[in-house]
Amino acid sequence: MVGVAGFEPATPTSRTWCATRLRYTPTGRGLITAAPLNASATTGKALNVELATKVLAADAASIADTARCLAEGGLVAFPTETVYGLGADAGNGEAVARLYAAKGRPAFNPLIAHVADLASARRVGVFNADAEKLAAAFWPGPLTLVLPKQPDCTVSDLALAGLDSVAVRVPAHPVAHALLKAVARPVVAPSANRSGHVSPTTAAHVLGDLTGRIDLVLDGGPCTVGVESTIVSCLGEPTLLRPGGLAREDIERVLGRPLALAAVPEDDAPIAPGMLSSHYAPKADLRLNAAAPRAGEALLAFGPAPPHAGATLNLSPRGDLVEAAANLFSHLRALDASGARHIAVMTIPHEGLGEAINDRLARAAAPKP
Ligand code: TXA
Ligand code: MG
Repeated sequence: MVGVAGFEPATPTSRTWCATRLRYTPTGRGLITAAPLNASATTGKALNVELATKVLAADAASIADTARCLAEGGLVAFPTETVYGLGADAGNGEAVARLYAAKGRPAFNPLIAHVADLASARRVGVFNADAEKLAAAFWPGPLTLVLPKQPDCTVSDLALAGLDSVAVRVPAHPVAHALLKAVARPVVAPSANRSGHVSPTTAAHVLGDLTGRIDLVLDGGPCTVGVESTIVSCLGEPTLLRPGGLAREDIERVLGRPLALAAVPEDDAPIAPGMLSSHYAPKADLRLNAAAPRAGEALLAFGPAPPHAGATLNLSPRGDLVEAAANLFSHLRALDASGARHIAVMTIPHEGLGEAINDRLARAAAPKP
């Protein structure tokens, strides 16, 4: 497995690891505190401790150590085939609260419970015939199912944002699988970025956002899919809540009928609340469906790129949507890091993974709050 340049994997001891436990301060409202991350839970005073985030190359020993850190209430980032997730023990409300705080995430946004296999998923959610079909066809893999929660589901109410449903996923990444097997309980994991930033597809991206805010990063190299999982609700008629790393066409082929589209509720509350319009936001402004870049713009190309004097990155010179999805977030980050203030994005075909890519681009282009 790959290490991250500039970051030394450290030899951890479990006591010093779960430093994030120091950060939780209960409030009268029972939600996330805005307390400084380096403050003591009992005195509120700044602690004289440097909270360091360790980076561990993913091997059997570090996976076992990471599982122990999770079980002790720690916050760990780990690779999945889609993007890096920031994991916490789903049943540990305090750990989940610290997770929301570390991300700066609106507390009403529910999290996906990650489990090692279908048997574990059945203990979390109730599967109807469609859910069974989809799990059999696509798990492990980049598909999240929203299901009625089991009466004895152990996922904390905070992680479910008080809903009666639960989002469940069995990731295909071997490191994620080994970790979930070792923890042997559901792990909630949003993408391991600060809220409003683009999702991380390498350990270095995670560190850029969350250094000092989480216990450790398990480095398993770059994610292969590169966009988040596709979310399908199986609460009634199967409904696409978020396009993602599994193409809609593949899902519809297995179901034998089209997916319903999520109706936008009258009060404008998003159905998958994470689908806030400016969720995936680079610092630069994006101009979508650009035929040609203008002076002063950086270019995010797809397929054959027009000549351009400014910074240019190509999602897939050969016009492959799978390759483009895998490069999307890292190219957006790289163009941001180049200092570009405006990015022209060429047209991406709206088929296969193009649906998810266009969805993320539209969010990235939305006006910032
Ligand atoms: O690929 C992925 O799905 C990554 C990796 C780490 O697994 N995770 C991820 O999590 O993208 P997150 O938290 O960034 O996005 C989860 C989405 C949010 O939009 C949330 O609102 C939605 O899932 N969600 C979670 N539970 C839900 C529920 N019960 N009903 C509807 N939407 C739900
Ligand atoms: Mg996210």
